[in-house]
Amino acid sequence: MNSQYTEHIETQAIRTQLERSAFLEHSSPLYLTSSFIFEDAEDMRASFAEEKERNIYSRFTNPNTSEFVSKICKMEGAEDGHAFATGMSAVFSTFAALLNSGDHIVSSRSIFGSTNSLFTKFLPKWNIETSYFKVNEVDKIESLIQPNTKVLYAESPTNPAVDILDLEILGAIAKKHNLIFIVDNCFATPYLQQPIQFGADLVIHSATKLIDGQGRVLGGVTVGRAALIREIYLFARNTGPALSPFNAWMLSKSLETLAVRVDKHCENALKVAEFLENNSKVNWVKYPFLTSHPQYKIAKKQMKLGGNVVAFEVKGGINAGRKFLNSIQMCSLSANLGDTRSIVTHPASTTHSKLSEEDRLETSITDGLIRISVGLENVHDIIEDVKQALEN
Ligand SMILES: Cc1ncc(COP(=O)(O)O)c(C=O)c1O
Repeated sequence: MNSQYTEHIETQAIRTQLERSAFLEHSSPLYLTSSFIFEDAEDMRASFAEEKERNIYSRFTNPNTSEFVSKICKMEGAEDGHAFATGMSAVFSTFAALLNSGDHIVSSRSIFGSTNSLFTKFLPKWNIETSYFKVNEVDKIESLIQPNTKVLYAESPTNPAVDILDLEILGAIAKKHNLIFIVDNCFATPYLQQPIQFGADLVIHSATKLIDGQGRVLGGVTVGRAALIREIYLFARNTGPALSPFNAWMLSKSLETLAVRVDKHCENALKVAEFLENNSKVNWVKYPFLTSHPQYKIAKKQMKLGGNVVAFEVKGGINAGRKFLNSIQMCSLSANLGDTRSIVTHPASTTHSKLSEEDRLETSITDGLIRISVGLENVHDIIEDVKQALEN
């Protein structure tokens, strides 16, 4: 290969492959094995001493998980990574491995519900506290930083309100204060956005979403600076949140089609957003690549396309939101997102119903907010379904 040769992200997702077995298979095989064997006592000793890069036990590493992680590392521009059973085990293991009792986190207020529960219900048990900033209050971040602050944490685009945070600004703040900057990049995927370019030290994905893309398996991954990944790996190796080889194999295969799938998701989502923008039953619509999005310029700077999630507010509050869901005919009412099938949710009456109205509004979740994860059905059918549900 000549030195000018650089692979594009689509090629990396397809051509990063395990060493072939003696059968010279074209497509990577599935290594459903819990453990691996050694030549002799010395081979076993050296493998356990990590003098050799060897698979020992699938709780530690497995060829299928290694292939999946290598792909994500290349696509994100990361030095190293580790895969997990779910997105949440990636989030939890990352914090549990890197933080000590007495450490402090500064986090965006608009984060996934279970991550918020981790920060508010569980980490305080180990004397780890979190201070929050709102998505439109990035200028307040520095005032929240304390001598014991160790991590700056954010998601962009946010779930479910599809707000955008300026990753470059956050990266600069983290660098200035020597914080570990961690980004949950689940909504964008490595195809649309690479946070490491903007200063992230670690990037987390729920692979359950667009990376699988077909609503089949759960998975998670953390990639980034090798020294940090080493700590995370040691935590995971001993505590056991391992990604199954079967799921890793599925997810690695899914990455081969990520770019074409996500291109189509984004094309469909933009059309759905444009339809909603001109509908009299809708107060507002938020999609990162609509010029009306409050952070449109930031989205254009850091994302290739706008993603597959559209948020909008139906006129009429909670009841109108529930009515919209009841009138939907084709789209699914489901908690997942990033599936080939379009999915609609009404956060105020479901996922976020336990929050006070004040807390919901802090994360832009208004009573009539609807989140659509736009799928790969013909976009005319998706728009027709949304249209008839709004009219009913
Ligand atoms: C932004 C974000 N992060 C993390 C997760 C958790 O991922 P998992 O469900 O794979 O544990 C989700 C799940 O919806 C999510 O939307």
